[in-house]
Amino acid sequence: MDKLLIIGTGLLGSRIIEMASEEFEIVNTYNKNPVDLQSTVSHQLDITNQTMTFKLIKELNPDYTIHTAAHTGVDYCEVHGSEAYSVNVTEARNVSETSGEIGAKLVYISTDYIFDGAKGR
Ligand SMILES: NC(=O)c1ccc[n+]([C@@H]2O[C@H](COP(=O)([O-])OP(=O)(O)OC[C@H]3O[C@@H](n4cnc5c(N)ncnc54)[C@H](OP(=O)(O)O)[C@@H]3O)[C@@H](O)[C@H]2O)c1
Repeated sequence: MDKLLIIGTGLLGSRIIEMASEEFEIVNTYNKNPVDLQSTVSHQLDITNQTMTFKLIKELNPDYTIHTAAHTGVDYCEVHGSEAYSVNVTEARNVSETSGEIGAKLVYISTDYIFDGAKGR
């Protein structure tokens, strides 16, 4: 079985684990909220800790990574811009680069809350 790493196990990550568990060996990460799912092996990871992020991805050595860790509260992100940028941009890029280094294919889930700063959504 190919190994699938789910980074972030919120609404989307948990559902993917449920759906993909028969076809993949699944490992996942959570930050503050562990999940109680039998079909995965969980690891705690704060992706703003770049050293741990690089280390864990390399140790787990997945064939595929689905990156679902994000600050998803739009209002929170508006107020905490640098924190949101760190998790949603800088660390997403680090996950992407590390996945590339080990040859894992990466799936990144974007958002429909995208606008150019001038016009509305
Ligand atoms: N749900 C949707 O309908 C939908 C639609 C379009 C796009 N998306 C995109 O899909 C992605 C996931 O959405 P979601 O609905 O699953 O969000 P969610 O339920 O809020 O889950 C976000 C996850 O990110 C993790 N996370 C936050 N900060 C972290 C950090 N510093 N280190 C590690 N993990 C961290 C959280 O971990 P802990 O809880 O363990 O702290 C949580 O598991 C987002 O990029 C979102 O924009 C979702």
